[in-house]
Amino acid sequence: MNVGGTLIAGPASSGLSGTLTIPGDKSMSHRAIMLASLADGITDIHGFLPGDDCLATAQMFVAMGVRIDWLNDEKTSLKVYGVGLHGLKKPTDILEAGNSGTCVRLMMGILAAQPFDCVLSGDSSLQKRPMKRVADPLRKMGANITGEHDLLPLTIHGSPLHGIHHTSKIASAQVKSCILFAGLYAQGETTITEPRPSRDHTERMLPLFGQSIDVDTQCVIHLQATGKLTAPTEPIYIPADPSSACFFAVAASLIPDSQITLKSIGMNPLRNGWQRILSDMGADLTLQHSTIVGKEEVADIHISHQRLHAIDVHPADVPDAIDEFPAMFAAASLAEGTFKLTEATELRVKESDRIAVMSTALRLAGADIEEFPDGAHVLGGTLKGGVTIDAHGDHRIAMSMAVAAQCAESDICIKNAATITTSFPDFVPLAQLLGMNVHWDEVER
Ligand code: S3P
Repeated sequence: MNVGGTLIAGPASSGLSGTLTIPGDKSMSHRAIMLASLADGITDIHGFLPGDDCLATAQMFVAMGVRIDWLNDEKTSLKVYGVGLHGLKKPTDILEAGNSGTCVRLMMGILAAQPFDCVLSGDSSLQKRPMKRVADPLRKMGANITGEHDLLPLTIHGSPLHGIHHTSKIASAQVKSCILFAGLYAQGETTITEPRPSRDHTERMLPLFGQSIDVDTQCVIHLQATGKLTAPTEPIYIPADPSSACFFAVAASLIPDSQITLKSIGMNPLRNGWQRILSDMGADLTLQHSTIVGKEEVADIHISHQRLHAIDVHPADVPDAIDEFPAMFAAASLAEGTFKLTEATELRVKESDRIAVMSTALRLAGADIEEFPDGAHVLGGTLKGGVTIDAHGDHRIAMSMAVAAQCAESDICIKNAATITTSFPDFVPLAQLLGMNVHWDEVER
């Protein structure tokens, strides 16, 4: 039971084994709810991730008059009764995004164009995260957004929007998707250029709802709104989340005698940078049963233990593995040699400053890490453990440290880990099924 949000993770007593189905993809679950709510007609969604982040998005649409019927107790299947692009109702209360950057930033694009005003807010972590990166391009489109220092809480005064060409300085799918959602309401064409391609789930899902989108040879994304989204006749099936799968792939790579299989994992090339990085480090990952689900490739991943060595991460791989660096740091702290990460400043504005928080946690556990403004050098070796570290309410830090602890000499106590429920509510029972040594501390500290 998750009493005080503290995890106790310790050395694994034997290799991991088993075959697991991982919950649905977080990014795709948000987008499926958003598009289904704004479509004309009813959309069935299966494989939805019932984590707090995606439930916050669902709750926002319910607060704006969308009917959502959950089809099972686990909340992985649902029916969304879309109200059409212009059918949302003014919410009576503040719209709360909790811990979710994807929820708040994508919703800003939708809310900027509504014929009503509303207030968006989030938890203490989200209130510190930059919203200017979406507020500024939205303002260029005609949006009226106010809030101190462009931080949450923000008031969105709905306004008519027009298309723009936006050149983004950062490879961010949240920025891109926010503008694309606003573009659904804009007069004229909306185009976006990114410095490197970011995850493209929005671009892949929009055509399922009848809205075409083009990516030209210069990698510029073009959207000319048709003024209508239509619910697909087939259900939307969401693949298993590769970002969640990554924790177990790293654990199985690190723990001697491990052999595990993770079923039907999303293989979008803009999400599987961690597989390239881990393979380059010597990991033994084998793909089986590749197939296409909706517009996304999926495959089973079989992982066997293999000794890992450090690499220099290629900057081109950074956006494709942006959520997996806490887990990569855990792997690197136990690999041979010095793992070098650069051009990853974005990690500093995630649910926590992931370079600083992960470096502090691993150092306390016995690792040797040198931090830089845009990355870190992780000198691999052994982890002593026997310490308490602070995950700072960042789900991915908590899970990554639980993985690192499997190869430490003694237990690591991970405080402020309750937010695991934002992206992977079943992390602890599934980790235990594979044989990981991790449990919630049942004592309030
Ligand atoms: C996401 C995009 C990424 C990622 C986040 C989910 C998305 O954020 O870190 O967990 O679903 O669009 P950025 O767009 O800020 O890179």
